[in-house]
Amino acid sequence: MNTAVVEQLPEVVMPACPILKVLKGQRALVTGANSGIGKGIAIALGHAGADVVVNYVNGEETAEGVVEDIQRCGSRSFAHRADVSKEAEVHAMFERMKEEFGTIDILVNNAGLQKDAPFDQMTLDQWNFVLGVNLTGQFLCAREAVREFKRRGVRREVSCSAGKIICISSVHEVIPWAGHVNYAASKGGVMMMMKSIAQEVAPYRIRVNSICPGAIRTPINRAAWESPEAYADLLKLIPYKRIGEVDDIGRAAVWLASDDADYVHGISLFVDGGMTLYPGFEAGG
Ligand code: BGC
Repeated sequence: MNTAVVEQLPEVVMPACPILKVLKGQRALVTGANSGIGKGIAIALGHAGADVVVNYVNGEETAEGVVEDIQRCGSRSFAHRADVSKEAEVHAMFERMKEEFGTIDILVNNAGLQKDAPFDQMTLDQWNFVLGVNLTGQFLCAREAVREFKRRGVRREVSCSAGKIICISSVHEVIPWAGHVNYAASKGGVMMMMKSIAQEVAPYRIRVNSICPGAIRTPINRAAWESPEAYADLLKLIPYKRIGEVDDIGRAAVWLASDDADYVHGISLFVDGGMTLYPGFEAGG
């Protein structure tokens, strides 16, 4: 890699609150929305005109901060604590959303975590915890959303589809990841879950897709970008030679949720600076 060239690259500057409110009148729920990618998505949807439920499990204060940011742009928002791996809590969250916002148009299944360990040392608790949140949590929320979308149908005044589900997967739905077997298995599961739901609900005009982020600058992977040495190593895996920012994912989510993407269904949209392009082959093979 030519580091001299990389160092000259400009900082990425994202536009603030967009003027075009492409999601005006729509109601969104973003899980795990008080930090990282979920926070970026919740703010992007709110700034694009959607009312947003900010789900969190730990960190009420940070969730309230996201709510305030969304409200500043003129959208409605409230925070709701629920563990997405618990059926009763997910059910209660959807009931409150229906009470306060009337319905749901957009579900972003974002809540996810890592519990890394060498495979032979991985405990059943670590396995179950990651699968419980990353895969079962997405199933439980998607099921509630589909029930409401089917009951209600299309609201022509806000969208030509009856509802949108965006699953936040990962490049690791296709890239195997040593030391992270539970996480990679959960994301591989998200891929087939998303595509199977998409096939089943398409006739109801419900759109289901995934976003697969690469390395995005968030607390989950701090060790990979915090020191200059770690960052240089990380860039070896990214042909585009910069880490992703949460806004990169937020803007992809706004597009996928909008009618601009109305014919986009059942896809895994990789937003990864080319991480899935086998960068090891740049100068080999
Ligand atoms: C993981 C990050 C990792 C990235 C690329 C994501 O799904 O959560 O920790 O940096 O994939 O490997």
